[in-house]
Amino acid sequence: MWIPVDELKPGMKVGYPILREDGSILLNQGVALTPGYIKRLRELGFNSIFVEDELFADIKIEEPLRIETKRKAQKVLFETVKKLQRGSKFSYEKVAKVLEEVMEEILNYPGTVFYLVQIRQCSDSIFSHSVSVGVISLLLGHYLSLDMDYLKKLGLGALLHDLGKIRFPPQLLEEREKITEDDKKLISLHPIWSREIIQMQPGYDFLVSLIALQHHERMDGSGYPYGLIGEDIHFLSRICACADVYDALTVDRPYRKRFSYAEALEYLMGNSHSLFDLQVVTTMVRHIAPYPVGEVVKLTSGETAVVIKLNEGLPIRPVVRVIKDEEGNTLSKPRDIDLMKELAISILCSGDETAEDFYPSSDISRFKEMDFID
Ligand SMILES: [Fe+2]
Repeated sequence: MWIPVDELKPGMKVGYPILREDGSILLNQGVALTPGYIKRLRELGFNSIFVEDELFADIKIEEPLRIETKRKAQKVLFETVKKLQRGSKFSYEKVAKVLEEVMEEILNYPGTVFYLVQIRQCSDSIFSHSVSVGVISLLLGHYLSLDMDYLKKLGLGALLHDLGKIRFPPQLLEEREKITEDDKKLISLHPIWSREIIQMQPGYDFLVSLIALQHHERMDGSGYPYGLIGEDIHFLSRICACADVYDALTVDRPYRKRFSYAEALEYLMGNSHSLFDLQVVTTMVRHIAPYPVGEVVKLTSGETAVVIKLNEGLPIRPVVRVIKDEEGNTLSKPRDIDLMKELAISILCSGDETAEDFYPSSDISRFKEMDFID
């Protein structure tokens, strides 16, 4: 179950490995939290983590990518960036090799609806973000029936799309409340830098560098760096753009809280006739769970529940376990509801929105930095 770091108590057990930026494990699954660990998590900028709970001992997290592979990919990206920062070339083959492992798992994933567990530090942007964007792009490409050659290029482009950020001055990556106009000018150059860096590597592929160059372009011409319109943006770049936005919205930023997974999909859907490719967004809505397993949700009955199982055909109506009644009292005997069968009840809100101080979805100001998310 997702628990905000402020509500963690000593003795609670970590429910999903928490990774450092290089892919190594900071706290492994099953580790009992101590006051020191909780303090450290808060200092590092974690907002919420997965904890084990007896109530959910029978529930399994099923992701399309094993944690070991996720770690390996994150490590390769970390090494890639470190090499580039030292001014040397990175191993294009090494990235391509880890991509093949990622692809093998993703293409064999038996489900049709998926989610990724996103436990991140606020400042941890490039490495885990790139792996997520790679995984989401590949899954979308797979459901969009792309051939293997295209899938490989899409995966590589998505993994390397933000490399240009290594040229940001350090102060730009620091946690801050506001992004200035000068910052925006610099930020808008990173897709060009990403392309340049990829094109400097021996054996690079043109399409891979194009995806990196175009991942912030928007269908209506409002994107950057060139303000390309519609068909001028390559289809693979449009897939990467949607995966990028979805991932960036669902993690905390120094200047805003994360959006719930449902809200992120809502944002993409709401802009599928202006900013994003309609076909890509439709595929996302069909295959990405708006309410992943472990997510705390509020039901229209007033009760609070946790998602315990996805319903393949209708991800918007999962199976939930009710843990609190409408007054907020913890139930001594939780009960499961299959929202596919109990049609009179539905999910009202999820994630941070279930907390007292939730942001109403209509609060447009939360979207104001959308053009400059990574
Ligand atoms: Fe970016």
